[in-house]
Amino acid sequence: MSFVSRLLTRTARLSGPAVLLAFLLTSAGASAQVDKAQYDQGEKLFKANCGSCHKPDKDMTGPKLQGAKALWEGKGDVHEWVKNSQAYIKSGNEYAKQLFADHNQIVMPPQAVSNEDIDAILYYADNFAPPASAKPKEAAPAAEAPKSNWEWWVITGLVLLLVLLSLGGVRFQLNNAVREKQGLAAEPAIGTWGRIVRWAKRNKGWASVAVLLLVVWGSVLTWNFLFRIGVYGGDKVAHYKPSQPIAFDHTLHAGKDNLAINCQYCHSGAEKSRHAGIPSANVCMNCHKAVSEGKTTGTAEIAKIYEAVGWDPKTNTYTGHEKPLVWNKVHNLPDLAYFNHSQHVAVAKLECQKCHGPVDTKMDQIEQWEPLTMGWCIQCHNETEVKVAGSDNGYYQEIHRRLTETPMGRMELKKYLEDEKITVRELGGWECAKCHY
Ligand code: HEC
Ligand code: HEC
Ligand code: HEC
Ligand code: HEC
Ligand code: HEC
Ligand code: HEC
Repeated sequence: MSFVSRLLTRTARLSGPAVLLAFLLTSAGASAQVDKAQYDQGEKLFKANCGSCHKPDKDMTGPKLQGAKALWEGKGDVHEWVKNSQAYIKSGNEYAKQLFADHNQIVMPPQAVSNEDIDAILYYADNFAPPASAKPKEAAPAAEAPKSNWEWWVITGLVLLLVLLSLGGVRFQLNNAVREKQGLAAEPAIGTWGRIVRWAKRNKGWASVAVLLLVVWGSVLTWNFLFRIGVYGGDKVAHYKPSQPIAFDHTLHAGKDNLAINCQYCHSGAEKSRHAGIPSANVCMNCHKAVSEGKTTGTAEIAKIYEAVGWDPKTNTYTGHEKPLVWNKVHNLPDLAYFNHSQHVAVAKLECQKCHGPVDTKMDQIEQWEPLTMGWCIQCHNETEVKVAGSDNGYYQEIHRRLTETPMGRMELKKYLEDEKITVRELGGWECAKCHY
């Protein structure tokens, strides 16, 4: 829908009879008695369930809810819509279909609320009054990255070492003060290293144990290091997590309890092509034209989207000065290997999370979860069963035909089924040429 027509619907809404009526009622003053209990109940429910996408009086991801009840009168059942908007669209309601189309087909997830709850929420929205003493929001301080255990150990160790060394120095000075009193010549300063060597000479047994420990520790570190070269995911190594130009949070946008945006709304290539693709900033603008402020980063991060597409939020116009975003690539297979998303997402019907980990629940910053080694690919191909029979997928129907309609195929099938399942490996998932050009 074009910007102009969207503006028109918005204006139409504003001048809609319901809003007019509400305006007349409130300006009449005394006649608008607000039921405090119903209002408070509605506010609570609204904040718990709807506030991430709706505002009472302003369009956000979803339209403002003020006046929504009146808009639905005679056109459909707003209760059914809220409880399961997609099902209601499927039932054929025209208003619901139009609403969905007008909002860039963003799915409003089913809401676990009763009809009374919905009435309370809409009552609250219709009678919404912004808090009188609303203070300007302060930007939340950037959370300091907690130090890992490992770093604390090193720091504690260094502090202890410093204390020990200075104690050594103090002892040396005290010792010389005593010798001076006794009329003996001061001992020459031998330095820290000299003291260590002297201690080792006097305690040969302990010294050799210490040296042995150091050597073992060094070898383990080197060994691990050699195995980690070029491998960034999996459980043994730190996950690769490069910094990004905008603090884009996957848990907020894709998380079920948050905005619950489908992965493929942004990574639309995954179903159809080799690459999943990174969305352009224009995709962000579908929502961020209306949402200029986030709960944790205020306006700072979203302003970077505006800068990228050249959008002036004050005048709501494009300035023409674009500054495209450069996201840092997280996953990097070497050129010698070939990987295709469509094969895995559309044909194999694997969930993104199988290979990318808990993106929607854990990754406020995106990271590489799995190692992406050859061993990782072929291990899954060895374990994963392919349901060829009865598939509605043309690719599998062809394999099924080959395996059942020719004598050669039937022999092959018998061999595959010795372990009672057909795996990816058996269909060619271990052939070098499938993954290497
Ligand atoms: C994840 C985001 C999201 C949440 C959470 C959400 N909504 Fe929505 N809502 C939308 C979107 C988006 C639309 C616009 C229609 C569409 O694209 O499906 C919408 C539309 C609506 C409409 C129709 C408005 C109109 O102008 O006709 C109502 C009513 C509504 N929502 C009520 C609610 C209530 C009540 C809750 C909480 C119990 C809620 N929504 C929670 C996203 C959300
Ligand atoms: C609102 C848009 C949006 C949604 C929804 C979304 N992503 Fe992303 N995704 C991005 C952007 C932008 C990046 C670029 C890097 C970043 O996040 O900082 C990205 C990066 C990624 C990457 C890393 C790409 C690389 O460089 O290797 C993966 C993997 C990924 N997303 C998976 C998912 C999965 C899985 C889901 C669903 C659970 C999902 N995304 C939902 C916008 C989105
Ligand atoms: C379907 C709608 C939608 C899309 C698409 C979308 N966002 Fe958002 N985004 C939101 C909403 C709603 C919020 C406000 C949530 C909150 O903080 O309560 C938000 C918040 C944010 C925030 C602030 C987070 C915070 O808590 O401070 C950033 C940064 C952000 N989005 C970046 C992006 C980027 C980059 C893209 C495109 C790759 C994008 N968004 C696409 C709906 C969307
Ligand atoms: C079978 C494992 C697997 C599944 C399932 C999978 N991916 Fe990937 N994904 C990969 C691998 C491997 C790479 C690295 C590819 C490369 O570097 O060529 C990758 C790269 C990406 C990238 C960055 C590069 C690109 O292709 O654009 C994004 C974004 C991404 N995946 C998103 C998704 C989303 C969204 C889904 C679900 C719809 C998904 N992936 C499902 C394995 C998988
Ligand atoms: C989580 C499991 C999983 C992982 C990990 C995985 N795959 Fe797959 N792969 C599958 C499944 C299931 C199929 C079967 C789809 C089909 O029948 O084509 C498949 C099929 C394939 C095929 C087509 C095989 C054929 O017979 O035509 C290729 C090529 C492939 N994968 C490459 C890769 C590469 C490269 C990687 C690693 C970067 C990888 N896969 C990682 C599950 C996985
Ligand atoms: C399911 C996909 C798949 C199959 C089948 C496969 N490979 Fe690989 N292979 C990969 C991937 C992915 C990499 C890159 C791994 C990495 O970067 O750690 C790779 C890397 C390699 C490398 C380079 C190792 C290195 O350290 O750079 C060689 C050599 C190789 N494969 C040989 C083979 C041979 C020979 C076969 C057949 C017996 C084979 N591959 C079958 C996916 C596959």
